[in-house]
Amino acid sequence: MGGLIKGLGSLLAVVLAAGAAWAGDSRDAVEQAISKQVVRGGIVFKTYCTLCHGPRGDGTARAAKLYGKRNLQIQPRDAAYYEQIIRKGGAAVGRSEFMPPWEGELSEEQISDVVAYLTVLGDQIRRGEVLYKTNCILCHGVNADGKGRAARLYDPPPANLRASDKNADYKRMIIKLGGAAMGRSPVMPQWGLELTDAEIDDIVAYLESIKGTDPGS
Ligand code: HEC
Ligand code: HEC
Repeated sequence: MGGLIKGLGSLLAVVLAAGAAWAGDSRDAVEQAISKQVVRGGIVFKTYCTLCHGPRGDGTARAAKLYGKRNLQIQPRDAAYYEQIIRKGGAAVGRSEFMPPWEGELSEEQISDVVAYLTVLGDQIRRGEVLYKTNCILCHGVNADGKGRAARLYDPPPANLRASDKNADYKRMIIKLGGAAMGRSPVMPQWGLELTDAEIDDIVAYLESIKGTDPGS
């Protein structure tokens, strides 16, 4: 995950250095998209919580063997409950002590961000949107219309994903295996190295949900 954030940072630096005369996303639009609370919270969740709770919070995680999958499921509950157990840990609220207290470990901002993310955790399309915004916008654009800040560096350009005529299976494959493996541009990265199949499914669900729609709708 550190590598991912660094990767995003260095790509941003290249792109910001590339100058102004470009009709794609503005710097502000990118900043706004990646500083949304749920997007930041998704990064906190992936970094600190998926080991036990799984990338979807459904308990499908490496630690499930130790704690039991059912206990590791995060159910839809109100934000106050989430905040309490995250701050104080399981023992303080009469639950398992294996849920650690995060107060002190995470900043106040990270705690409120991850609570915001938990409220979308049960929604595949919203999860996919967070993953898209964390990983794809510099090339494919904040609006998935192919107008990312880095887009003009590449020929062929990153696809307009709203207008894509490819089906869900094809998208799943090119995202997982990368452009080169599909006889397309090697600039499209091999996301199977960074993202699980479940996460790729979530992104594809998001892309299918915006297919054929106008940005902003
Ligand atoms: C070391 C493993 C571990 C890690 C890491 C962990 N948790 Fe937990 N968490 C647990 C366990 C075990 C429970 C279940 C407690 C119980 O059932 O008594 C739990 C329960 C929860 C619950 C209550 C779920 C519900 O529906 O009642 C929430 C919310 C939660 N964790 C959020 C988080 C967040 C957010 C993070 C990351 C900042 C995190 N956890 C990291 C082990 C972990
Ligand atoms: C470094 C730039 C870059 C990044 C980052 C990137 N892509 Fe791409 N992507 C491309 C390029 C370039 C193409 C077009 C390849 C071609 O036309 O040969 C492409 C093509 C695609 C296609 C095929 C669409 C079609 O209609 O054929 C999908 C789907 C896709 N990317 C999804 C994603 C997703 C999801 C992410 C984030 C997880 C992502 N890409 C991140 C550059 C990128």
